[in-house]
Amino acid sequence: PASTTEPRPGDPAVGGVPLAEIADRFGTPVYVLDEGEVRERCRAYLRAFPEAEVLYAAKAFLCRSMIRWMDEEGLGLDVCSAGELELAVTAGFPPERIVLHGNAKSPHDLETALRLGVGRIVIDGPTEIAPLAAALGPDGRQRVLVRVVPGIGAGAHDKIRTGTEDQKFGLSLSDGHAQHVIARILDQPQLQLTGLHCHLGSQITSVKPYVTAVRRMVGLMARLRDQHGITLPELDLGGGHGIAYRPGEPALDPAVLARRVRAELGAACAAAELPVPRLIIEPGRAIAGPAGVAVYHVLSVKRTGARTFVAVDGGMSDNPRPALYGVRYAPRLVGRPATEPLTPVTVVGRHCEAGDVLAEAELPSDVRPGDLLAVPVAGAYHLSMASAYNLVGRPPVVAVHAGRARLLVRRECLADLSSRDVGV
Ligand code: LLP
Repeated sequence: PASTTEPRPGDPAVGGVPLAEIADRFGTPVYVLDEGEVRERCRAYLRAFPEAEVLYAAKAFLCRSMIRWMDEEGLGLDVCSAGELELAVTAGFPPERIVLHGNAKSPHDLETALRLGVGRIVIDGPTEIAPLAAALGPDGRQRVLVRVVPGIGAGAHDKIRTGTEDQKFGLSLSDGHAQHVIARILDQPQLQLTGLHCHLGSQITSVKPYVTAVRRMVGLMARLRDQHGITLPELDLGGGHGIAYRPGEPALDPAVLARRVRAELGAACAAAELPVPRLIIEPGRAIAGPAGVAVYHVLSVKRTGARTFVAVDGGMSDNPRPALYGVRYAPRLVGRPATEPLTPVTVVGRHCEAGDVLAEAELPSDVRPGDLLAVPVAGAYHLSMASAYNLVGRPPVVAVHAGRARLLVRRECLADLSSRDVGV
């Protein structure tokens, strides 16, 4: 039913539905996804990059509704496993608009990609070539891109920087490895090389690394033209566009990125006397992240000498990002005016680890068990990286749109978890 409750002051509503109402109806922890915001973010990318193919990076968050929204908005999909691929295709997503990635694709990944007719496969290393050609058979044909490491350090944390030399992804530009592997791909008649791919890293808030990447990738395209007489029609610049997790933090504006990338691509191609390739981009976080809110109940408040610990009914099992990358969030209490006297607190989860810390925050000083706590910007890389740690069960996902809330993914229960335990 449509929401009937008027939000109280300080009671945030998402998609026209008060968070308190969602918590009452679906329980906590719960992840709330604003469908309108997801769609609007897709449209902002399509407006900024009308000449490009925009792929949503499924690893940020995937479920059947998300797949349908991406299809309806006209985006493609970037997937990195047979699982993501099969879910997308069985939910009705056109396989030709899907690109398969992966630094270590399993035989099952490749078999699934060929069986379902995936649009492109991004070749990440030399040992993928022979198995792919063999699986295609003498008459098969597959469009492929090659992942190149352009030697650029960008991204919010070491663990999410993928454009630098000396790491597991892609083929290095500087030592000629990329060119060597490309020559081998060109020897395989089944593999139709349509372009180059790079992904610099994640949570990047400056356009500069993208501009440098364009220059280096066009440089490689020109060398390939000179050496092999080929003109590659596509250039995939990956994703990684940063978002603001806390008020006042910078974000990468797709329109600004598009302008700078377009200008650099035009200039570099003109200088190299190359036609401008069709751009592909792969935003994940920037589409799903800001559209999600995680809502928890406070379970306990402990005031020690130096600190106040506010413990909630979720934690590192539904959001491992603070523990993994030291990310900072800005949680707030639902239904409390922001003007109350605030006190610094450490928001912790319910898991049996001291490192299960969600945020350092300022909350009303009378915070107490039963309060609702919302963590904004929770749509990307929370549930897709969630675990079953302590058998707590992963939270449900609720979509809100035009004053209505509906369940997309139900809560994981003990029966789900124990159904895989087949021993005695
Ligand atoms: N394309 C490729 C090839 C990627 O590997 C990724 C992300 C993306 C696109 C999308 O990047 P995005 O636009 O979402 O930044 N778990 C980390 C992020 C890992 C990103 C992995 N690759 C986090 O929670 O920050």
